[in-house]
Amino acid sequence: MIKVDQLSKRYSGHTALDSVSFEVGRGEIVGFLGPNGAGKTTTLRILTNYLPPSSGSAQIDGLDVFKNSLEVRKRIGYMPENVPLYNDMRVKEYLRFRGALKGLKGKALRIGVGEAMDRTSLHEVRRKMIGTLSKGFRQRVGLADALVNRPPLLILDEPTNGLDPNQIREVRGLIKELGGDHTVLISTHILPEVEMTCGRVIIINQGKIQAIGEPRNLAGQMRSAGTARVELKGDPNVIEGKLGKVGGVRRVTLERSDADWHLFVMKVEANKDVREMIDRLARKEQWAMRELSRKDVSLEDVFADLTMNQHD
Ligand SMILES: Nc1ncnc2c1ncn2[C@@H]1O[C@H](COP(=O)(O)OP(=O)(O)O)[C@@H](O)[C@H]1O
Ligand SMILES: [Mg+2]
Repeated sequence: MIKVDQLSKRYSGHTALDSVSFEVGRGEIVGFLGPNGAGKTTTLRILTNYLPPSSGSAQIDGLDVFKNSLEVRKRIGYMPENVPLYNDMRVKEYLRFRGALKGLKGKALRIGVGEAMDRTSLHEVRRKMIGTLSKGFRQRVGLADALVNRPPLLILDEPTNGLDPNQIREVRGLIKELGGDHTVLISTHILPEVEMTCGRVIIINQGKIQAIGEPRNLAGQMRSAGTARVELKGDPNVIEGKLGKVGGVRRVTLERSDADWHLFVMKVEANKDVREMIDRLARKEQWAMRELSRKDVSLEDVFADLTMNQHD
């Protein structure tokens, strides 16, 4: 559905996108994840034909975004970062206006607006002025706008930005539902968002793709895949040395000491559970133990690792 090939964008000397390539298949919900300034909006604006790239190509449904801009726009429902709404228009009136701008008229316009309001549950506020709506409702109007010409592809730029937790849950649910019969590309800088909503995630930082994969599998790609913690009583230097020799342990740090007790945190390899070996070691060395635990890596860790490596 989307094919991006070596896309670059330079803004007067500053490279915002550096040879970005990725694909999104029909029916996928894909998260486009990166910190502020990573290049997410720039990519989405190029895909939606609002911005020309400096080099590279982008296709939607096999159509070149720049050579077939009109055809491409018909296939995309785009919700920009800060949904620009007309505060002095009523909800339904606005959606009719937007639908007409997208070339709908007569029955097609009526059906398009009706369906968009159905899917975003806007009927109850259809006569309200947009300016009087809560942020959550405004966001839904933005989504309805993206849906009005019934496009197969939705491109949503940070759709939950600025919402409260309840509204976030609502919008997330809505996006999941829309994923049933749409291809969705959704940008965000919030990690739990992609873990909960997306089947696949593209991680971007400083204009470069850092990783692409399923949220679960990305964790497995990390150099140090997780952490283990153990609190032991004994000589900290001896303990640190011996823990470091346990198979699967990458790095040992003494987190804190409390009298004779010492808490060590270890970076451990992917898919290795070092707890049994540490337990055996502690018995052999006769170190008393009061904690032994392991934490699997989260997408948050992957992200921190990937973005940190940039500055190595
Ligand atoms: N119109 C512009 N002119 C100059 N630099 C820009 C412009 N738009 C974005 N940038 C820069 O490009 C980089 C990527 O921005 P953006 O795509 O908005 O990132 P994101 O959406 O991931 O936060 C940033 O460093 C930003 O400052
Ligand atoms: Mg942005």
